[in-house]
Amino acid sequence: MNDVDGGLDEAPGGVGAGAGPSTGEHARAGGAPGGEAQEVLHRVFGYDAFRGSQQEIVEHVIGGGDAVVLMPTGGGKSLCYQIPSLVRPGTGVVVSPLIALMQDQVDALRAVGVRAGFLNSTQDLEERRLVEAEFLAGELDLLYLAPERLRVEQTLGLLDRGKISLFAIDEAHCVAQWGHDFRPDYLALSMLHERWPEVPRIALTATATEATHTEITSRLRMEQARHFVASFDRPNIQYRIAAKSEPKKQLLELLRTEHAGDAGIVYCLSRASVEKTAQFLVQNGIDAVPYHAGLDAQVRARHQSRFLREDGLVVVATIAFGMGIDKPDVRFVAHLDLPKSVEGYYQETGRAGRDGLPSTAWLAYGLQDVVQQRKMIDGSEGDEAHRRRLAAHLDAMLALCETVECRRVRLLAYFGQESTPCGNCDTCLAPPQSWDGTVPAQKLLSTVVRLQRERGQKFGTGQIVDILMGRKTAKVIQFDHDALSVFGIGADLREADWRGVVRQLLAQRLLAVEGDYGTLVLTEASGEVLRGGRQVLMRREPEKPARAARAKAAKGKRAPVDLPAEAMPVFEALRAWRGQTAKEQGVPAYVIFHDATLREIATARPAGIAELGAVNGVGENKLAKYGEAILEVLADGPSAAEASTEGASTGRASAETASAEGPAGNGWAGGSQASGSRANSGRPNGGRPGSGSGAAASGRAATGAAGRPAAPEPDADWDWDMEEPPPEEDREGAYG
Ligand SMILES: Nc1ncnc2c1ncn2[C@@H]1O[C@H](COP(=O)(O)OP(=O)(O)OP(=O)(O)O)[C@@H](O)[C@H]1O
Ligand SMILES: [Mg+2]
Ligand SMILES: [Zn+2]
Repeated sequence: MNDVDGGLDEAPGGVGAGAGPSTGEHARAGGAPGGEAQEVLHRVFGYDAFRGSQQEIVEHVIGGGDAVVLMPTGGGKSLCYQIPSLVRPGTGVVVSPLIALMQDQVDALRAVGVRAGFLNSTQDLEERRLVEAEFLAGELDLLYLAPERLRVEQTLGLLDRGKISLFAIDEAHCVAQWGHDFRPDYLALSMLHERWPEVPRIALTATATEATHTEITSRLRMEQARHFVASFDRPNIQYRIAAKSEPKKQLLELLRTEHAGDAGIVYCLSRASVEKTAQFLVQNGIDAVPYHAGLDAQVRARHQSRFLREDGLVVVATIAFGMGIDKPDVRFVAHLDLPKSVEGYYQETGRAGRDGLPSTAWLAYGLQDVVQQRKMIDGSEGDEAHRRRLAAHLDAMLALCETVECRRVRLLAYFGQESTPCGNCDTCLAPPQSWDGTVPAQKLLSTVVRLQRERGQKFGTGQIVDILMGRKTAKVIQFDHDALSVFGIGADLREADWRGVVRQLLAQRLLAVEGDYGTLVLTEASGEVLRGGRQVLMRREPEKPARAARAKAAKGKRAPVDLPAEAMPVFEALRAWRGQTAKEQGVPAYVIFHDATLREIATARPAGIAELGAVNGVGENKLAKYGEAILEVLADGPSAAEASTEGASTGRASAETASAEGPAGNGWAGGSQASGSRANSGRPNGGRPGSGSGAAASGRAATGAAGRPAAPEPDADWDWDMEEPPPEEDREGAYG
């Protein structure tokens, strides 16, 4: 059954960088106007219906109009230019900064019969020549280009000699100069309109703040374009922001209890923490690789490719990873450090759950994040206006972290969209309360004032908290701080509570940090609090927040594998076939078919080719290529399943298949536990999270409370484990 039929010698993966049309037949639409877009969607891509505003956008561009499209990460922007490129005469030219992904994008298009190619610096002259020839011969539906190509007169001349159906400017926020992904070459794209005024342009981005939107429109000279702003909600993603105590341990706990064997991305701020975290996960039996700009390009490419091709790999990365990656089954995105902006956070978390199945966005956030980021801004290059902008971004991110309201309502409001509490974020699942923290705030602020006024001293959080709590540490005695009138006035709160107070005062700008040691100083607004003229509301962490959220999440998580019992072995058989096929073609498994499509096939069990063609995700080309093979799997399935259940160890799926397809891919034995099998299967070195670097780090942190180490330099490879050391009894929740 694993003998896939001969159609596979037309493997799209075998077609190099646009080296010639693969099959001769291709996907271009016939001629009839009207329902053409719909027809292409159905026939080529195999989808039943357009999503949201896709249809409107597609028709507008087919009609020759310019469009600015704002749609969330994973929302389906690609079809908005791919379908018009197929319908309009000529080649759709796609400008994209994602060079490392062009091969995969082209492979995926070729897999559905679209004639696609790319031109970028990874190709040699010969490969480029081939693509250019195809373009000139009118044999390309889509041509992907890196933006820097368009600064070369030679490329412009080439485009002049061919026929262009449209320009798509993907990841258009790269034109925004103060954005997190600014690419200078994007600025030059305003010339497209001058040089080719007749060719419609469509700019697309998942970054949707008013400021970015305006900047895209003006810099690309798209004032005349129609604007399409989709809903930014990604309802299948569960947003959670947890109090950071020992981030690596917390992460491990999350992966073990909720995402065993799942693919996911873990974001860290520094390269060093990326390396350490990846190592920590590997030591604890999780399949993880690092990814950051300091790694060799080849290593990066290899890790990205593994992430795309394998099931269940975790990539620990700086923000340099993930943009435009169309891996549908990323089940979680975790942040171990505070993102610098809500836009960045939303784009990164949006990489989870593109297939619409339940996914988790989890962020660990604590005092040190605020200290660190404020310091980074103070030390950043650029003028005052630039720093103010960075600070505004951070403030919005902090407000999201400290809110007692629905996270999603907050997020969507940030993008100017109204909504009601979602029921699928941590604050909805385990509502935190707000409490009046005015008195503790006054106590803390007056300690800072007294140290400064009476002693001419400034100290960091650790010493201030020790004074408040009346701890006679060596450092307190050394500085005679037990003689201060504020000594011990805060004994009613615990250390974690005080750190929460500091964090929230910093977040609300009622307190500030200064210098290399992160010393605390007052702000202009502090006086009002001290004088009793301002109430300070604080967030009280819910008791056992994680658990409440987790119970629900765990239930939700069953959904992806929640197939009728009899469909399960068929699904597994299909996955095994897919893994084998993908491997032979050298493409990611989802390029063959998404899980969702296999699931539908397993449930519906189509009896013939026509019925199979009606399944969502099965287009004309894939039907022709894989139809017979799938029907064979379906015919074999049940009996083969029984045979294999008896002898699971000799299951049909080869070892290679299993590794390409992940834990659930190894034959029929997996059943509904399949997705959990990897990490639970008792790996070597699968020690408790308490062992290894986590414990070492907390040991260090405990001493840190008394003699806090200097906060590291902004861009240095700092270690977040040094901070946030709540005493043992505080683990359950700061105010429990
Ligand atoms: N109408 C549709 N029906 C079913 N699936 C769809 C539809 N439109 C898009 N998809 C799927 O949704 C996924 C995300 O699409 P796409 O890659 O275009 O997202 P995007 O908006 O470009 O996201 P990003 O901002 O991350 O680049 C893809 O796997 C795609 O196949
Ligand atoms: Mg995209
Ligand atoms: Zn909510």
